[in-house]
Amino acid sequence: MRILGIETSCDETSAAVVDDGRSVLSNVISSSQASFKTMGGVIPEEAARKQVECILPVIRDALAQANSTFEEIDAIAVTNGPGLLVSLLVGTTTARTVASVQRKPLISVHHTLGHLSSVWLDCPEEPSFPVLTLSASGGHTDLWLRTSHTQGTLVGRTRDDAAGEAFDKGAVMLGLSYPGGPSIAKSAEGGDRKAFPFPLPLHDDSLPDFSFSGLKTALKYLVKDLKDIQHMLPDVCASYEHALCAHLLDGIRKALTLHPECKEVHVVGGVSANTYLRSQLDAVCNGRKVRYPQKLSYCTDNAAMIASAAFFLTQEKNERAYDAFRTIASQPLTHLFSKKH
Ligand code: KG4
Ligand code: ZN
Repeated sequence: MRILGIETSCDETSAAVVDDGRSVLSNVISSSQASFKTMGGVIPEEAARKQVECILPVIRDALAQANSTFEEIDAIAVTNGPGLLVSLLVGTTTARTVASVQRKPLISVHHTLGHLSSVWLDCPEEPSFPVLTLSASGGHTDLWLRTSHTQGTLVGRTRDDAAGEAFDKGAVMLGLSYPGGPSIAKSAEGGDRKAFPFPLPLHDDSLPDFSFSGLKTALKYLVKDLKDIQHMLPDVCASYEHALCAHLLDGIRKALTLHPECKEVHVVGGVSANTYLRSQLDAVCNGRKVRYPQKLSYCTDNAAMIASAAFFLTQEKNERAYDAFRTIASQPLTHLFSKKH
């Protein structure tokens, strides 16, 4: 089954052609991130204006790179939320129009379900469920206990900021550019991870929830106290990156203690691009198979993961995958997972 995926939930405009949820024929991503480098975050209306300009060329490129025509596309999949409403509307309006003109079925996909599916892009292996998935991005930080590609329960979540947000806001405090994850990781190179101690939030809580606001405040006071921040930057970044990753790893460790039946551990979302986090994963997973997306471009927002999730929806929900949809800026995945069929 060949699916054309479309994703415009934040500052990216992406279109991809994916066969059977795994074989990526193209994955075109146009980002307006550079315009927000000094802003510390995305300005929704500005991002949406750029998306309106480039959505059709991006779709055309995705088809051309996949050497495919609309006749060969079996369905169109689009992120319908959560995300920035104006940005989402660019994608959903385009997808509905193209689907109607080209007479193709339309599948709406929850953005997080896209991230959860991203480990299967370019990966021919079969999963062993149950799977524990940490999905950590700029908008959410969740732990899912999954019993299939499209079913599962939320076992942990952030109580305040998302992990990516803690990187992004930390970068603003340190005078580094947006997005904060890659800039902090780069500035941390060669730094001493133990130079500055940070707390391990919720460590004594048995629930595998997360809280990043205390770490952010600790960084704020550290920056205020340090006289020569530029000179200490690698040590500060290395210690802060270590603190954020240690908290994520502690959540995974607690979730595996509560759910020892998990056979695999997956880490997805923008933060899964973090090499330091990846290097520490095996130590908390006790010999379980650990997976993250095969390419860095599959960690951050992309349309291939949306096409992949749409394929698994058609496999597991049949015609119900083609529900008429609404664009919803804020929607929990738990709602979708608990729908009775
Ligand atoms: O999944 P994503 O592209 O968009 C959302 O759904 O939010 O994630 C973007 C987030 C940003 O907060 C960014 O700082 C973070 O992922 N990120 C990273 C890295 N690359 C991107 N965080 C840590 N280390 C990285 N290498
Ligand atoms: Zn995302």
